Formats: sequence, structure tokens, C-alpha cells
Amino acid sequence: MARKPEKKQEPETTGHSWDGIEEYNNPLPRWWLWIFYITIIWGIGYTIAYPAWPLINGATPGLLGWSTRGEVAEEIQRFKEKNAAIEARLAAADLTTLSEDPELMSYAINAGAAVFRTGCIQCHGAGGQGAVGYPNLLDDDWLWGGDIESIAYTIRNGIRNETDDARYSEMPRFGEILEEEEIDQVVNYVLAISGQEHDADLAALGAPIFEESCAACHGVDGKGDRDFGAPNLTDAIWLYGGDAETIKETVTYSRFGVMPAMGLRLSDAQVNAVAAYVHQLGGGE
Ligand code: HEC
Ligand code: HEC
Repeated sequence: MARKPEKKQEPETTGHSWDGIEEYNNPLPRWWLWIFYITIIWGIGYTIAYPAWPLINGATPGLLGWSTRGEVAEEIQRFKEKNAAIEARLAAADLTTLSEDPELMSYAINAGAAVFRTGCIQCHGAGGQGAVGYPNLLDDDWLWGGDIESIAYTIRNGIRNETDDARYSEMPRFGEILEEEEIDQVVNYVLAISGQEHDADLAALGAPIFEESCAACHGVDGKGDRDFGAPNLTDAIWLYGGDAETIKETVTYSRFGVMPAMGLRLSDAQVNAVAAYVHQLGGGE
């Protein structure tokens, strides 16, 4: 049975007509419309409550006073409060017995690694491997001392800076004291004691010069002296370089490695933390 075709219904029009073109009256679905209105109201509310409208410097602050910066500050404050107790313990800790307190030790090493990343890698390298003029902190060759308290002292007071407690020494500029010939001789002596290729005759002439001019700081055997931060000249580890040319440059003009007193920027707990971190890097005594 064939169905009788329904009579096609004419949609309602708005009654407007332009040149014969009529406009259907199709209202938006109610649910859609309400959501649309709610979004507008919500949007206005949002721009009042939160920072929104750009101004010349910044934006409208919003009634709730919320800001990403404030949120970070709050977060930091929360961690500070959480860590206050252990920070106080670390600041007052006896470093030599730190390793007997595993909880404090692991906190110190983590905190120390963070301090190292922000305050030390510019000079000592990301892994503490050092660079020319900036000592490697991973090896067991120490200029000023490698036990944890010496390390902490170096970090707190720095080296050859303008503060009173800084570690200090000054290698003379031998270009103003010795003849160039004598410098060549003593350079060959340094090459000899560091086991490198050298001119034996010159080195023999350099030996008494070394004893007279250098041994006071570098030691009679050339193995260095931590009281002066004078490097060991007999090993293969060089702060500035161990080839003849660089040694000659060092002896002629001297060097003056400076490290800032980090204690001026770091709290006691941070100094202790980074000392513990450096001490366990590999070379700590
Ligand atoms: C501006 C560069 C600079 C910064 C920053 C710096 N240091 Fe140094 N540091 C040096 C120099 C240069 C020396 C070596 C000075 C010398 O010739 O005796 C040194 C030496 C040291 C020594 C002594 C090494 C030894 O063999 O006795 C330690 C330990 C040390 N630094 C740790 C740190 C730590 C930890 C930090 C970060 C909290 C730091 N340094 C930040 C430049 C810096
Ligand atoms: C007053 C103490 C002092 C005297 C004297 C002295 N030195 Fe030095 N020497 C140092 C110090 C400290 C350093 C570390 C340089 C720095 O960072 O300022 C150094 C560094 C060096 C270095 C660089 C080592 C490296 O690892 O790159 C050489 C080489 C050296 N001295 C050779 C000599 C020779 C040779 C003499 C004698 C002619 C001499 N020194 C006399 C204190 C001294």
C-alpha cells in the first residue's frame, strides 16, 4: 500500500521580504542560546575577578588579586616552611659528622646540587669539571684543601677577593725578578719534575732557582702547599696548563685566580649543603 505523500509543509517566515527573498523563522535552539548567554556572563565575571585587560604597564589586577607570580611565591613559601626545621639543623650541623645522619646528608646533597647549579657552574662547569683557571672539583687534587670543612671555608669566604677572610696568596711576577734565561731554566725544571719532555741542562740550572724562588710556596719537592693554594707541579693536573709556553707565561706574569665569597649570597645552610655536595663528588677527603 502506497502511503499518501504528506503535504509539504511551508516553513514559517519572519515576514520580511527583500526583492522576493524571504527569511525563514528558524530560532536558535534554546539550550544553545542559554549556554551562549552563560558564557558571556561568565566571561565578564572572569575579567572582573582575574587579571585580564591589558594596560600600558601590565594588566588590570582583578578583584581576587591572583597572579602567577604570587602563586610561585606562595609555593616557595610553603616549601620554605616545610624545610625550615631541616634547614636550621643543616645550618648548625657539624660537617665532619654529617654523613652519620643519612636524612640530613641526603637533604644536603640534593639542596647542594641545586645551589651548585645556580651559583657555581658558571665557573666550575656543569659537572664541576672546571676549565682553564677554574679548578676541577671532581678530582682529589686540591689547592686549598679537600676535607669538608676546608671546602666549606673556601666556598664561604672565596679566594683572593676583597673580603677579610678570603683565602689569599700571590705568586710574584717573576718577569720582574728573574732574567728571561733564568725563567727558561726554571720552566724546564718544572717540565722535568712533572715528567715531561725537557732540556736536561736547562733543568739542572733551574733546580737551584726553583729552590730559592719557588719552593717556599710550591714545596721543595714541587708538590704544592695548601696554605698558599700553590698547586702541585709534579702531577699531570694543571690549573692553567702544563706545556712549556703556558708555564712560562704563568711564571713571567703570574696568575691571580679569584673566587667570590659565596657566603655573602648564600645562607649558612646553603653553604653547608653545597660543601657536602662538592665533597661527595669524588675527590672529598
Ligand atoms: C666567578 C667564578 C667562580 C664562582 C662563581 C665559583 N667559583 Fe669556586 N673557584 C673559582 C676559582 C677561580 C677558584 C680557584 C682559585 C685559585 O686559583 O686558587 C675556585 C676554587 C674553588 C674551590 C677550591 C678548590 C681546591 O682545589 O681547593 C672550591 C671547593 C670551589 N671553588 C667551590 C665553589 C662552589 C661550591 C661554588 C658555588 C657555590 C663556587 N666555587 C663558585 C671560581 C669560582
Ligand atoms: C708566593 C707563593 C708562590 C711562589 C713564590 C711561586 N708560586 Fe707558582 N703559584 C702560586 C699560586 C698561589 C698558584 C696558583 C695560581 C693562581 O690561581 O693564582 C701558582 C701557580 C703556578 C703554576 C701554574 C700551575 C698550574 O696548575 O697551571 C706554575 C707553573 C707555577 N706556579 C710555577 C712557579 C714557579 C716556577 C715559581 C718560582 C719561579 C713559582 N711558581 C713561585 C704560588 C707561588
